[in-house]
Amino acid sequence: MGIREELQRLDEELDMEMARAETLANIEALRVRMLGKKGQLTALLRSMGALSAEERPKMGQLINERRERFTQLLDERQQKLQQLEQEMRLKREQIDVTEPRALPRLGNLHPNTLVLNQVVDCLTGLGFEVVEGPEVELDLFNFELMNLPKDHPARDAQDTFYIDDNVVLRTHTSPVQARIMTTRKPPIRIISPGRVYRADEVDATHSPVFHQIEGLVIDEGVSMADLKGTLDAFAKRLYGEDIQVRFRPSFFPFTEPSAEVDLTCVNCRGKGCRVCKNTGWIEVLGCGMVNPKVLDMCGIDSKKYSGFAFGVGLERITMLRYGIQDMRLMYEGDLRFLKQFR
Ligand code: PHE
Repeated sequence: MGIREELQRLDEELDMEMARAETLANIEALRVRMLGKKGQLTALLRSMGALSAEERPKMGQLINERRERFTQLLDERQQKLQQLEQEMRLKREQIDVTEPRALPRLGNLHPNTLVLNQVVDCLTGLGFEVVEGPEVELDLFNFELMNLPKDHPARDAQDTFYIDDNVVLRTHTSPVQARIMTTRKPPIRIISPGRVYRADEVDATHSPVFHQIEGLVIDEGVSMADLKGTLDAFAKRLYGEDIQVRFRPSFFPFTEPSAEVDLTCVNCRGKGCRVCKNTGWIEVLGCGMVNPKVLDMCGIDSKKYSGFAFGVGLERITMLRYGIQDMRLMYEGDLRFLKQFR
């Protein structure tokens, strides 16, 4: 076959292959087949040795024109395919930022925390400040300054974990009262939530570790009416506007007079049921007017100032709030229980 015919055939072959080429790899293979060292056009160039001297430059020119044209066609196609590939990749990698994502598994607050937050919210709204005290406490603050001297029988009621003669795991949050009164001047308006410890057996309503929230107000002219008003707001906020507060006389060495506070039974709303043993009332906390002796021991002039204090069990009010029957549920970390408080 002559060179012209051969070139004609290569033109056709290129056209055909170009029509079929879909990928960059196809183009590259075609380039090698036509223009590579062992390619067809190169072979044709080599075969020119057999031509006559006049024919050689003409044929050479024709072959070179092909080389240029083929190169140009292949380059163009290569560019187009590269561009296409780029576009496809961009499309493939596009992220739809508006697409809703799978939500991570969220935890939720412990029921104790939920109720504590409500209490804190309510009382800070009334002007109370939240303070904390240590769980490993001096006997001085836990007992002595709370008017519970070493031989006082009321100590037995809070049978205690002693670290040594002078250090205890606090049996109530009341030592925070002493810490505040010995370091601040009135007016004082604080609440103090935290963990307390008692040598109690575990059962549905007892745990050797539980939580209390202490409240303390000291100023000139503070009366029992202020105490009752505060607890009334607290009870209504937690359990509803229909809940009433009732005071019963009681005894604590650090308050005088002292009271136990009952609320309208949150289960039957006062009608009488199993929870309130048909009385319509449930006991929730202890409180009273700060004993003048305690004020004086802590360096606050009891002739000028008076105050009230209360201490409430967090687990107790949480169980009432949610109708939890067994205190142990709150410490076991069972998700089936905890998930119910979302
Ligand atoms: N500290 C008492 C207790 O743990 C509760 C209390 C606090 C009573 C403040 C009166 C005043 O039982």
